[in-house]
Amino acid sequence: MGRPRTIWWETPDTVGVIDQTRLPHDHVVAEWRTLDDACQGISSMQVRGAPLIGVAAAHGMALAVRADPVDLDGAAGRLAATRPTAVNLRWALDRVTAVLADTSPEERWTVAHHLATTMADDDVAACRRIGDAGVDLLADVHARTGRPVQVMTHCNAGRLACVEWGTATAPIYVAHEQGVPVHVWVSETRPRNQGAALTTWELAEAGVPSTLVVDNAAGHLLRAGAVDLVLVGADRIAANGDVANKVGTSLKAIAARHHGVPFVVAAPWSTVDPACPDGDAVPIEERDTAEVLELAGTPTAPPGTAARNWAFDVTAADLVDRYLTDVGAFDLDGLLGALQR
Ligand code: MRU
Repeated sequence: MGRPRTIWWETPDTVGVIDQTRLPHDHVVAEWRTLDDACQGISSMQVRGAPLIGVAAAHGMALAVRADPVDLDGAAGRLAATRPTAVNLRWALDRVTAVLADTSPEERWTVAHHLATTMADDDVAACRRIGDAGVDLLADVHARTGRPVQVMTHCNAGRLACVEWGTATAPIYVAHEQGVPVHVWVSETRPRNQGAALTTWELAEAGVPSTLVVDNAAGHLLRAGAVDLVLVGADRIAANGDVANKVGTSLKAIAARHHGVPFVVAAPWSTVDPACPDGDAVPIEERDTAEVLELAGTPTAPPGTAARNWAFDVTAADLVDRYLTDVGAFDLDGLLGALQR
């Protein structure tokens, strides 16, 4: 559908990314020329979102082997340390290092450059398939009610979290393309405000109406019958179906179940981690407490206030009504069956 990509080769040896720390006010391209640039770009959240940081890590590996074609483990280790929760990062690094280990050092730059592009293309195709797997959920609501489908989402699991389509937004974009009217309730997603800054921005760009609410409004909206389904992304899906996603997701899932609203998780299969037995085994990123103690640089709590800043939480598998993936849509039993194959 020709949305602008979030990552690309700006020149043959320079990676271009949309600098998401500058949105929604400035649309700025950041350029990465070195492994250091890529590590800094991922950890500072110039790029963020599970699928995109995987693809970004693949580009970082290409930049690394251009400078040093030998030390694959050193480069992969540095990239892996940038963010711990999204398994797509490790998945991408494993894939790239396996290919490069079978490649002579002289050829590694060419091969890594090509592989990074392939992985970006694969993400676009995978997200489109997620959209195809989920569009009926939305179309059915519209057919039943005759009014715009009311979707609640959290954080940004959109094209900005991926390469072109997004995960949770893919069914929304496919429905929009097919003429199914959709309205999205976007929660602001304190403390980094991915919902406010990014999801509203990209939905407006795509022509999909949305309304921004504070994170704590979810219960009110669900109780009021204002939501047909909750649709979120995932940073890691454990082998028992537990889902790690942006902090606050689990409260939405609990409230959705209480109010009888379907809770749906959209993610590519690269987000499923068969080596992670359950949600307790997911490493949950803790970020700088300044993100909690300040709002736009202004303190919101008395000096010396203790704070914690978990960036993700775990939603129990039994709260998930549907998993939308690039290899199909599943309930929990279906997901567990697919994991056995
Ligand atoms: O901390 P972020 O912005 O990288 O967190 C992103 C999310 O939690 C997304 O919802 C998740 O990665 C799914 S992305 C398609």
